[in-house]
Amino acid sequence: MINSYNKLLAGNKKWAGEQIAKDPEYFARMVLSQKPEYLWIGCSDSRVPAETITGATPGDIFVHRNIANLVVHTDLNLLSVVEFAVKVLKVKHIILCGHYGCGGVKSSMGNTAYGYVDNWLRHIKEIYVRYAEELENIKDEEARIDRLVEINVMEQVKNLCKTKVVQKALEKKTLQVHGWVYGMQDGLIKELSHTEDTLQAVHPIFKYNTE
Ligand code: CO
Repeated sequence: MINSYNKLLAGNKKWAGEQIAKDPEYFARMVLSQKPEYLWIGCSDSRVPAETITGATPGDIFVHRNIANLVVHTDLNLLSVVEFAVKVLKVKHIILCGHYGCGGVKSSMGNTAYGYVDNWLRHIKEIYVRYAEELENIKDEEARIDRLVEINVMEQVKNLCKTKVVQKALEKKTLQVHGWVYGMQDGLIKELSHTEDTLQAVHPIFKYNTE
């Protein structure tokens, strides 16, 4: 439908009205500042909205989403978000959340070219190569994709721990990093990794002297 965007505008009016009805001070409070405890790095997939699937509300989560939830060390957008969240907002947790059945991960395992996204997904192809033996031993295609989804989450959490800003906050014990995966089939989140196991998995060559 050509005017289907009106549905969103109407939804917004309804939502704003409901907020005011429930809590007349709601927007006055929102205007003041934000103090989120969490930074969420997730997939752009429309079925995995951070607040909805965690029962959070506006103001709770600082959010960054991209295709297949990647942490790429040359991505100025991601790096700005992480640095701002850690240094200025002082979030206590970074949650890197992937999801089973991820189209980005699935595409990275194939040979179809889509455009710019091929360059983006090349980061996952590099991971695939490192884990090819394990992955190619999984005969079921869906199970193979889902295993790469999990490996990708753990690799991206490691990438976070390779940045100086995250290392510094981890050393001061003001921050924790978590690797999660969301199950589309039952709506449940599985915890894959905690700060300690991620740090152990990061090669010391990535460690910076922080003072
Ligand atoms: Co996805």
